[in-house]
This record gives sequence, structure tokens and C-alpha cells, in this order.
Amino acid sequence: MVTISVCVGSSCHLKGAYDIIRVCEEMIERLGLKDKVELKGTFCLGQCTEEGVTVVIEGETLHGVSAENFEKVFAEKVLQKLTEENRGNN
Ligand code: FES
Repeated sequence: MVTISVCVGSSCHLKGAYDIIRVCEEMIERLGLKDKVELKGTFCLGQCTEEGVTVVIEGETLHGVSAENFEKVFAEKVLQKLTEENRGNN
């Protein structure tokens, strides 16, 4: 299970946090990962001055996330971690 927390504090909200959540939900649905990926919203992570939206994936804080680059982030961080988990189980 990979946990994604998208900051929905007011600053990240203005920078498109909800667009990221929408893209993320679509990807989870499309890739059939409902039972493998947990998507949560979180209050301000105190990183508002950083570029873009703040997203935490498995404890790793990422800045500069947007709806446009989220598919790439998802592939690099989430799919990568799921692949590692699968390897560990085999
Ligand atoms: S609102 Fe997202 S880090 Fe502050």
C-alpha cells in the first residue's frame, strides 16, 4: 500500500491541489490500484512558500507538483514503490 497525501491548505488549494486529487483519482481508477494506493488530503504542511503544491508520498515530501506533472510523479514515485513492494513479496 502506498499512501499519497495532497496538501489542501489554502495556499496549495489555490495552486491546484484539487486538480491533482482529480488526476490522481482518475489514475488510480484507470490502473486498477484502488486497494494499493491510499489518497488523502492533508492540512497545510508548512511549505507554502515552495513552488507548486506539496504532496507527501510514503513520507517523502515533494514540492512543485501540479496537475500537469502529476502523471510523471505518480509513475516515478508510486508505481516505482509498488513494483518494489511486489518484488519484496515474491
Ligand atoms: S497550504 Fe500546502 S504547504 Fe501550506
